[in-house]
Amino acid sequence: MFFLFICFFIRIGRKNQTLQGQKLIEVNWKQKIEELKLEIEQYKIENASSVEKFRIAYLGTKGRLKDSMSLIAQVPSESKKEFGLLINDVKKMAETKWTETKDRYENNGEQKSIDFDLTAPSFQSLSGGHHPISIVRRRIISIFERIGFTVEEGPEIEDDWHNFTALNLPKNHPARDMQDTFFLTPDLEWMLRTHTSNVQIRAMERNELPLRIINPGRVYRNETISARAHCTFHQVEGLYIDEGVSFADLKQVIYFFAKELFGSENIRMRPSYFPFTEPSAEVDVPCFICEQKGCNICKYTGWVEILGCGMVDPAVLKNCNIDSEKYNGFAFGMGIERITMLLYQIDDLRLFWQNDIRFLQQFRSNS
Ligand code: DAH
Repeated sequence: MFFLFICFFIRIGRKNQTLQGQKLIEVNWKQKIEELKLEIEQYKIENASSVEKFRIAYLGTKGRLKDSMSLIAQVPSESKKEFGLLINDVKKMAETKWTETKDRYENNGEQKSIDFDLTAPSFQSLSGGHHPISIVRRRIISIFERIGFTVEEGPEIEDDWHNFTALNLPKNHPARDMQDTFFLTPDLEWMLRTHTSNVQIRAMERNELPLRIINPGRVYRNETISARAHCTFHQVEGLYIDEGVSFADLKQVIYFFAKELFGSENIRMRPSYFPFTEPSAEVDVPCFICEQKGCNICKYTGWVEILGCGMVDPAVLKNCNIDSEKYNGFAFGMGIERITMLLYQIDDLRLFWQNDIRFLQQFRSNS
């Protein structure tokens, strides 16, 4: 009986012993993780080399975190999950500390400034812009589009018929002299077009009436290059063919155009001569460059001619097989360079071709 009694006590004592031992181990691994956490928190990183030292000491393959993993052998199975979570937290903390300090010191050990002035003006962007000729061409197109004109284009290499003959300018007509031509073939059949009026003929030949078109494009003439003239320049041609079109319609379209582009109807319409229109007129605007005081652009007259226009000559309609008894219309043609010079007060046409960035940059915000 006594023996049994002793045995009972021994058993209780052993059980107590193992419980206490377990608790001790548990306290031990948790404490070790806590200590490691504190150590990581307090580790001072002050330069690039201590960033690397920190990584090797804690996150490296032989580092303290790897080392702590072996504690798992001492952890009772019901606490293994908790162990895993705790060690994971410490690992994340160490990684965050490492990446943050690495970013800060990576610039040759210099601390990168992270407090910058959000209100400072931004760096100037290097975006391009449109050429002034393109800007004005687009403005002209948009004005005519608003009153129902559509854009049509034609070839820059043209034959005699479309550039001259069909426009009532037969061979040996003296008016051909006004357009000094770059011929491309010895028989003078092919040339660089001297004006955009060739597109009028090509459009009328299609015989789809009524017609209300504008034709922007590049043209060529054998001119001596100067502040006022160049061998290559740009025009916009207009053509309106319908039944019962009058000179009053032409005038209204020109007034509308002047008002929209220059902001004023202060224009001058002078009788003139073109072989393809009858009657013909030229339109002048006040010289904005010298404010009508007189300069080389307005040839000291105070006025600058910007376009030619008139009622389409019945002979031209006939050349395109259009019944000139039934249909009539008006046409106009303007130089984009001249208009751009007036709008921006540019006194030398050669600037458009020089590709000088200082000149072109001034138009960037207008695109
Ligand atoms: N083609 C003429 C030139 O280049 C400009 C012109 C004048 C066009 C009168 C026209 C017009 O359509 O009707 O000088």
